[in-house]
Amino acid sequence: MKINSVLFVCLGNICRSPTAEGVFKELLKQHVKGSTINIDSAGTSAAHAGQCADSRSIKASTKRGYDLTDIVSRQFNIKDFEAFDLILVMDKANQNELLKLAKDLKRDDYANKIKLFLDYSKQTEYLEVPDPYYGGDNGFNLVIDLIEDASFGLLELIE
Ligand code: 4NP
Repeated sequence: MKINSVLFVCLGNICRSPTAEGVFKELLKQHVKGSTINIDSAGTSAAHAGQCADSRSIKASTKRGYDLTDIVSRQFNIKDFEAFDLILVMDKANQNELLKLAKDLKRDDYANKIKLFLDYSKQTEYLEVPDPYYGGDNGFNLVIDLIEDASFGLLELIE
């Protein structure tokens, strides 16, 4: 199946999924010339809607060459099930939230779009991207490491 659009999802849409959006957009730009794939991110929670990405995510990403400064948090909307070909979640808790929404809508096709982002990763230690919000800088750097790795796997699928 040709992938035309990808949505990254975490809880708050201020740390992990904006990082995934920024990293994947940049790697796609570097590796696939003239790509028209639509890439976005959202949170299952609305707690941070309207806010910029967490300053710690912006700082860690900037150091690695990724720009998150234009990203504004928004909550996942059921219209996203129609708008995106792939919905890539950072952890199982958020996967279960979206699967519940798809089940309530009785839409197996929506449920089938939801995958753990790290399913595309080559490393096998982590199945989920750990929430860095209550931790230190190491957590934010680990988020970028895992997201870069999974992004390269996803690029192979898309190319
Ligand atoms: P994210 O991180 O889901 O990666 O954006 C979090 C952001 C905020 C909170 C938890 C995780 N919070 O509890 O406010």
